[in-house]
Amino acid sequence: MKLGVCYYPEQWDSARWRDDARRMAAMGLKLVRIAEFAWARMEPREGEFEWAWLDEAVGTLAEAGLEVVLGTPTAAPPRWLTERYPEVLAVDAQGRPRGAGSRRHVCFSSDKYVSASLTIVEAMARRYGQHPAVVGWQTDNEYGCHDTVQSYSPRALARFRNWLEVRYGDIATLNERWGNVFWSMSCDGFEQIGLPVGLPAQANPIHALDWRRFASDEVLRFNRLQADVLRALSPGRTVLHNFMGFFGEFDHHAMGRDLDMATWDSYPLGHTDSTAFIPPAERLRWARSGHPDIAAFHHDLYRNVGRGRFGVMEQQAGPVNWAPWNPVPQPGQVRAWTLEAFAHGAEFVSYFRWRQLPYAQEQMHSGLHDSDDRVAAGGAEAARVAIELRELPDEATRPAPVALVLDYTSHWMLETQRHGADASYFGEAFALYGAARRLGLDVDIVGPDAPLDGRALVLLPALLAADAALAQRLEQSTAQVIIGARSGSKTADFRIADGLPPGPLAPLAGLRVRSVESLRPGMDVALEGGGLQGRASAWREQVEAEAGTHVLARFEDGTPAILRRGRVRYLAATLEPTLLDAVVEGAAKDAGLSTARLPEGLRLRRRGRVQFAFHSGPGRVAVPAPAGATWLLGERELGPAGVAAWLAD
Ligand code: GAL
Repeated sequence: MKLGVCYYPEQWDSARWRDDARRMAAMGLKLVRIAEFAWARMEPREGEFEWAWLDEAVGTLAEAGLEVVLGTPTAAPPRWLTERYPEVLAVDAQGRPRGAGSRRHVCFSSDKYVSASLTIVEAMARRYGQHPAVVGWQTDNEYGCHDTVQSYSPRALARFRNWLEVRYGDIATLNERWGNVFWSMSCDGFEQIGLPVGLPAQANPIHALDWRRFASDEVLRFNRLQADVLRALSPGRTVLHNFMGFFGEFDHHAMGRDLDMATWDSYPLGHTDSTAFIPPAERLRWARSGHPDIAAFHHDLYRNVGRGRFGVMEQQAGPVNWAPWNPVPQPGQVRAWTLEAFAHGAEFVSYFRWRQLPYAQEQMHSGLHDSDDRVAAGGAEAARVAIELRELPDEATRPAPVALVLDYTSHWMLETQRHGADASYFGEAFALYGAARRLGLDVDIVGPDAPLDGRALVLLPALLAADAALAQRLEQSTAQVIIGARSGSKTADFRIADGLPPGPLAPLAGLRVRSVESLRPGMDVALEGGGLQGRASAWREQVEAEAGTHVLARFEDGTPAILRRGRVRYLAATLEPTLLDAVVEGAAKDAGLSTARLPEGLRLRRRGRVQFAFHSGPGRVAVPAPAGATWLLGERELGPAGVAAWLAD
């Protein structure tokens, strides 16, 4: 468990580097990530490299005893690249090239962008791949940030057509599987296939979905090409990427298989304030702490994307500059976020950034120091955590009893065909996750192909693309299962499931979905039964139960709302949080898990033998520690931003 920091030597006079490095080490930081936006400094003209400054920067950090993660700089291409090769620019949905002058303005399908990227990656890896202080490589920076996964360039279209040809073999098959008889859309050849944008009416959903699958594959390809170069020239170093929060434009589970570990960039206040499915009242309530499940959700996701290995590459250390509103975190919160990441199994937490920069785009974004180099509140909290970490045992994370399946194809399907304006895939996943967390349960967020052995409870929020293989793994498991509405509703070709939803899950759930509807805000429906009572909103299904399937609760019109067949529960609507809590509690009880209704803002997480508790606030709460617990951090009562840890067994 180590602390680190993001540092930009190119932004500061080199006369300051030595003192910066010394103070980093003195603060207890061990790891520094550098260079991920410095392409123009490393290769100021095509094929001409300037390494002296970076040699000195890496050397200075190494002399201070710091470990270095080098970022490949492909998120911020230099001017010469876009000027000499304008075809590297990404193209937006209106057909306009993205402008150079910020970052990420490039197209993953551009051959020149890919080759220029591999040239700089290879040159960096040759120069620093064997450096003893270089322990890892970050590929690029936040793939897809600023909505940049999809590029509608001519080259992307050409590669999309090839991708389709590989997937479908011949055009007749594509016509058949896409259902192109509809609206006279049949094609005579792959060259007639266009982009799924700029059309008067909506594009065929399978056209839009295949485009998203293709765009995801382009990012995966780009990352794999970089990772291959780094592995060949810098053996033994950890290859990682820094993923984002609530971002699903490419298949993160698939990218995880090409990396040694996953990291992510945790900005709990920014995410809380800018996430559409978090209601305004909640954004306000958690404005200074971050929503109590927001960082945890991503820790539990990226630990599994990284196949057990994850870290936080950028940890918010004060106000950000990019959310609609950017408040200061409450006192102690930066420390609490850091310890929370470790509770969820992080190997390191690296703060963004060493010092606030007084110029350019991010001048209003905080760091561990202000722009005048005074230690900021977050810096003081980081120093405190560095001391606290010495007393915390470094435990291995055990598999959680609860698995929540998160699937990027289902996300793309739901976004392509919302049916209701407020439909949100991540919103559905976050709601079910939150219910488990409010009951004190630990959760692993896994991909749709993950083995389910050993899980006590499996949650499937809106798993539209659930397939027969998953259904089979669920049949074979002994877990309690909660299937959320819309699950199993679509085939891989984006058709309504054969024999009606939930398609391959129908035998397990023992029901058929006859029809569905979306509900405008205010059209809520009440439901009741089996000790459950509450409201559904946004989405509702009309379900027909088979013999042997028990209707636990019914909507006010008498149709089934929550159903149960053996160890499988099915939710025929989007349920309000209190109802979700009750359903998850019932299933957890049947799974033999012990649960607790936690006070507002209190959350638990176990790492090996250490049980952590975190309180976002408000007020003071008691943590559920046994009498005579051995305390490692904190105590039984926690105030806002409070953290406790005790030895559980
Ligand atoms: C991240 C990005 C950083 C910086 C940061 C500011 O998205 O990786 O480069 O922009 O946000 O919060």
